[in-house]
Amino acid sequence: MAGLAIEGVTHDWGAKRALDAVSFTVEPGRFCALLGPNGAGKSTLFGILTRLFSPRAGRVTVAGFDLARAPRAALSRMGVVFQASTLDLDLTVRRNLLYFAALHGFSGREAEMRAAAALDRLGMAERAGERAAALNGGHRRRMEIARALLHRPDVLLLDEPTVGLDAASRAAITAHVHRLAIEDGLTVLWATHLVDEVRPDDRLVVLHRGRVLADGEAGAIGGADLTRRFLAMTGAAP
Ligand SMILES: Nc1ncnc2c1ncn2[C@@H]1O[C@H](COP(=O)(O)OP(=O)(O)O)[C@@H](O)[C@H]1O
Ligand SMILES: [Mg+2]
Repeated sequence: MAGLAIEGVTHDWGAKRALDAVSFTVEPGRFCALLGPNGAGKSTLFGILTRLFSPRAGRVTVAGFDLARAPRAALSRMGVVFQASTLDLDLTVRRNLLYFAALHGFSGREAEMRAAAALDRLGMAERAGERAAALNGGHRRRMEIARALLHRPDVLLLDEPTVGLDAASRAAITAHVHRLAIEDGLTVLWATHLVDEVRPDDRLVVLHRGRVLADGEAGAIGGADLTRRFLAMTGAAP
């Protein structure tokens, strides 16, 4: 299967269990929101998915490749946008992308073509010649998403990609990435603590204190009011 499968993933930070037998799958071409409050374990799971560290137990399959047994194949099918920004602000948007294209082994016209296509996909084509430093937070984030698409991955992972952005930028990025799943068939895992980024027809996994509390269609889990349901699940007062 071309999506993402997480089976029984457990991770401890010292004596603290950060992930406790986390299992869920994201079908190919679905937008899956990984929704959980601060400390839920979202970034720990991203660290495991990107092989920054190995879990104590469990298995991850990316686009059909076992992450432990075929790490290069699995990682090559994956695009990642980490929680902290990693752009070179002194370079132009285009240069930032070409630099990454080179890391993936693309050069010359192929690299130019891929960079242009990725920027266009995120509505950033007209910004290609600007220095990254001149962009606002929302456009910098979009540029990072474009960069993560250069090698045409099957699975895109984003860890709280909208943190620190204003409401309009947040809505624009959320809409762009939904479109990548719907129109381009990309499998998306979108970590967030913000309920309003989740749409009723998204796949939703609610993570809290390292455990999956709910897994299914967002509209079915949330009923009429996902915010209220989420607050009730995670223990806060509605
Ligand atoms: N590098 C680390 N060392 C020790 N504890 C950590 C580390 N990273 C995260 N934790 C702990 O693991 C838990 C989950 O954190 P994290 O995965 O960052 O959650 P989230 O991304 O959902 O906010 C928290 O209790 C956090 O304090
Ligand atoms: Mg985090």
